[in-house]
Amino acid sequence: MTNVRIVEVGPRDGLQNEPKQVATADKIELIQRLIACGHRTVEATSFVSPQWVPQLADANEVMAGLGSPDGVSLPVLVPNLKGYERALGAGAKEIAVFTAASEAFNRKNINAGIDESLERFVPVFERAKNDGVRVRGYVSTVLGCPYQGAVPLGDVVRVARALHAMGAYEISLGDTIGVGTPEKARTMLMAVASEIPMGALAVHFHDTYGMATANVLRCLDAGVRVIDASVGGLGGCPYAKGASGNVASEDIVYLLDGLGLTHGLDLDRLIATGHWISERLGRPNASRVGKARSG
Ligand code: HMG
Ligand code: MG
Repeated sequence: MTNVRIVEVGPRDGLQNEPKQVATADKIELIQRLIACGHRTVEATSFVSPQWVPQLADANEVMAGLGSPDGVSLPVLVPNLKGYERALGAGAKEIAVFTAASEAFNRKNINAGIDESLERFVPVFERAKNDGVRVRGYVSTVLGCPYQGAVPLGDVVRVARALHAMGAYEISLGDTIGVGTPEKARTMLMAVASEIPMGALAVHFHDTYGMATANVLRCLDAGVRVIDASVGGLGGCPYAKGASGNVASEDIVYLLDGLGLTHGLDLDRLIATGHWISERLGRPNASRVGKARSG
């Protein structure tokens, strides 16, 4: 049992935003390497519309290549019932539904308003319950929206509460465009935690303004124990203008080591994986720890 669980989102949040098509074999190898680093939750891919996110159009093949590794959860993003059926057909045992605290972002990202998206999820949750599929829920734009600007805290709490009440076992609070600062992040987390147990919350920071590690630290102090992160700092949402990658998994592991919190990951292997995928993608490694230990 570790103190902190890191949810590795690089293969999904990272690769959905790559300008070049990444080979399916590389996606599978990335996930297998991440599992070998000790990850127990790796978000593998998305069953969204391939017209909207062509980078992840090979979701079926990725899932087939992975099989069911022991003791590892491989959640996949699902936007609607059609996505659920595709995910189930591919053998998914855990899914993540996603919506936002901002109406404007939601329309750009999933072509639906907030309430409309929640209604879409009703049959997804029903089917998931019957099929024994676990559901994670994302709330995006919790600290700011690229279209609307400021997002009222009450909207974040309302959407998080709705997903939790529908049956999501965990709610991941996403600073989609990485504009948050530590005190605002803590205040947001505490507002949500006043309605949902802290144990059912995760934080998901993009690092656009370089605040993500500081935000994580503040949220750890406030009691959160699940952190989304991405190897090599891959990431970004194609429908969030200006969003950069997620906080790097390597950087979070280094931070946790410094705090004496356990996480179950092998930092050296994670650093090597960050270098490997950055090289495969032909992009600089965005992990500060990775850069510091370039070998
Ligand atoms: P739409 O165009 O309104 O969909 O898109 P529709 O229901 O009108 O259907 C249009 C066509 O798409 C139909 O096909 C459907 O069958 C098909 P046609 O009849 O024309 O041949 N379709 C699908 N095909 C495959 N899989 C599906 C699916 N659904 C419909 N699941 C939709 C609505 C939600 C589908 C679209 O907007 C979409 O896929 N959006 C996904 C965008 C996305 O993936 N964004 C990135 C992930 S979110 C994120 O990164 C944030 C996060 O990291 C947290 C954070 O950082 O804050 C999670
Ligand atoms: Mg994200």
